[in-house]
Amino acid sequence: MASISALHIEAKPDEIAETVLLPGDPLRAKFIAENFLENSICFNKIRNMLGFTGIYKGKRVSVMGGGMGMPSAGIYSYELFNFYDVKNIIRIGTAGSLKEDVQIGDIVIGMGACTDSNYASQFNLPGTFAPIANYDLLHKVVDIAKEKGIKFSVGNILSSDIFYNDNKNSLFEWKKMGILAVEMEAAAIYMNADRARKKAVCVLTISDNLLTGERLSVKERETGFIKMIEIALLSIL
Ligand code: HPA
Repeated sequence: MASISALHIEAKPDEIAETVLLPGDPLRAKFIAENFLENSICFNKIRNMLGFTGIYKGKRVSVMGGGMGMPSAGIYSYELFNFYDVKNIIRIGTAGSLKEDVQIGDIVIGMGACTDSNYASQFNLPGTFAPIANYDLLHKVVDIAKEKGIKFSVGNILSSDIFYNDNKNSLFEWKKMGILAVEMEAAAIYMNADRARKKAVCVLTISDNLLTGERLSVKERETGFIKMIEIALLSIL
């Protein structure tokens, strides 16, 4: 019988650090490795979902693409937590704002992640599970954002299965519950972390304002992303 091992990550056991930054876009992972890490090696090329391990300010860290949506982020976070010695995943990505005072370019840290996905059904729980960030990681990223003087909001986000939703009101129903922003991955990563007794947190840059229709410009996308990368990287030290 074949031994149980990761199907979507080809890294050798010791090639992945204990903390992994998980952007959705594998080219973003490459950008981070090339611009922020020293001596990085590429540990995954399966499906072009690039993953790298290198050194940031003396500490070993990995960065890997996780794809779009909970099925994809669920696969990669599951394999990282369960087939490698990964203890922490810091999701970094973009989100659409649902709150007036959460503006384009702002940082949102997902304390909790509501979802319209069925992902939790696999756990057979006799009720509703509340996917939340790990408190230690949450505390760290908040401390770093404060130290750096970066504007941020911490609270509940929505991880949605649907980007192009036929029901145009659905996000406004979430908004009435105080949801700060919508993205598509955090809830699955939080659930996988809890199930594996590991840690996860999600740090987002607001790229779209869903109330006004405003979007981050190409230039602003870059600088916004850099603030978020720095928060994530400094929190591993
Ligand atoms: N919906 C879901 N995910 C997103 C959005 C959005 O509007 N913007 C950036 N990530």
